[in-house]
Amino acid sequence: MEQKRVVVLISGRGSNLAILIARCAAGGANFVIAGVVSNKAEAGGLALARAANIPTAVLSHKDFASRETFDAALRTTVDQFAPDLVVLAGFMRVLTSVFVSAYAGRMMNIHPSLLPAFTGLHTHARALAAGCKFAGCTVHFVTPELDHGPIIAQAAVPVLWDDTESTLSARVLAEEHRLLPQAVSDFCAGKLVVEGLQVRVSG
Ligand code: GRF
Repeated sequence: MEQKRVVVLISGRGSNLAILIARCAAGGANFVIAGVVSNKAEAGGLALARAANIPTAVLSHKDFASRETFDAALRTTVDQFAPDLVVLAGFMRVLTSVFVSAYAGRMMNIHPSLLPAFTGLHTHARALAAGCKFAGCTVHFVTPELDHGPIIAQAAVPVLWDDTESTLSARVLAEEHRLLPQAVSDFCAGKLVVEGLQVRVSG
């Protein structure tokens, strides 16, 4: 079986990365994690990658004068791993349209809300403040407009009356861990058909 090369971009603890690593370690995956790139040296996910013998790179946005120069260096770093697919798994940087265009149709993001509701940050607090009865997560292709690309997969969870940001985010995270490996695997199998903003899983 041909294995696609996946590069994962992170900024933090890396629980979604851990799920992808576990999927590969279980055997039979149609992808390998070719590299992990973080914009934060202290990101917990880097240790997870190193423990799995996955090459890592750290590129701090603080070392760059502008978003454009950071993104140009990020592109060089990512391309060194020759990705078929780039996965943003808790990568907390807004990317320039030049960077996004370089990976058009082959970059996906996991976002902890039911898009198009609650783009951006603090999604769980905002869902609670809005009195939502359901929350959830979305895996989508990345386009230049933040959190707006074609939706690959979504999962909803109930919001309970005594939820806090922490209990709600834990319930959503469990669904993220289910959706992301499936979306990566479907992409790598060539099953995702994009028509405008709609994504069909074929086969
Ligand atoms: C996840 O909730 C993801 O949806 C969001 O950032 C968080 C990253 O968590 N974009 P982790 O680093 O994968 O544990």
